[in-house]
Amino acid sequence: RKDLLSLAPLSVEEITLILDTADSFKEVTGREIKKVPALRGRTVVNLFFEPSTRTRTSFELAAKRLSADVINFSPSSSSVVKGETLLDTARNIEAMQADIIVLRHPSAGAAEALARGVKSSVINAGDGWHEHPTQALLDLYTIRQRGLSFEGLKVAIVGDVAHSRVARSNIYALSKLGAEVRLIGPPTMMPWGVERLGARVYRNLDEGLAGVQVIMMLRLQLERQGRALFPTIREYARLFGLTGERVKLADPGAIVMHPGPINRGVEIAPEVADSLSSVILDQVANGVAVRMGILYLLSGAN
Ligand code: CP
Repeated sequence: RKDLLSLAPLSVEEITLILDTADSFKEVTGREIKKVPALRGRTVVNLFFEPSTRTRTSFELAAKRLSADVINFSPSSSSVVKGETLLDTARNIEAMQADIIVLRHPSAGAAEALARGVKSSVINAGDGWHEHPTQALLDLYTIRQRGLSFEGLKVAIVGDVAHSRVARSNIYALSKLGAEVRLIGPPTMMPWGVERLGARVYRNLDEGLAGVQVIMMLRLQLERQGRALFPTIREYARLFGLTGERVKLADPGAIVMHPGPINRGVEIAPEVADSLSSVILDQVANGVAVRMGILYLLSGAN
């Protein structure tokens, strides 16, 4: 493949190859060896039209650990503010020999549109409400790292599913890998017809959490909500906030995940986010190795 835009078209074998490749880099992301020369002479451009802490930083670290040159392009201090389009911007960057463009954009479909217009590889680092494939891949990696097998795994994805590109990518991948995906949230935050993707919808958090091995909490995306938030933040926290008591309804040993950034006290209680069940920082750490694997495979360096 030239690009990584979505997990919908990837086969189980392709997903497994990415996770296995990430595993091979995990050994070199430790203290002893920080760098491998696999992408020496290649250029990776981070083109982020929305804020990011984890994704942008870990793509930069991953590219540097593969010895690529990295450009962090900031639209707000570029000619984008003078009206230059996304495609023109990317073509100009490409003319300077960019091999891989990592794009985050507020519009669903932006990464696919860009991939059609440039020869460089394009990685979707989150496009609107659509997909966030590299986040889902690092989530899968973290689940696998805990020794859990995907076939028959019960996974609860909780919260603002409608606005979540992380949820969409995970639904595609987890269903494909044979997991039982439960989507839990208020009707106002659940996309219509989502059951068609193979997931089951629950309106009640306690019911949906019963016996699951993985609890994946989603951020309440206030910036993507209309002005009249329903339920209100207070109601949402009461009905869908993950507390220590609610974690006890899941399988003993269940892991708690969150893509970040977290709204402490809204979708997740601070004591749960910081508990031993939480793998939130493992997800962040694994993001570097997973993104190394993706950059390596797309670059054709293998
Ligand atoms: N999970 C995630 O995409 O975080 P950032 O927005 O900080 O990149």
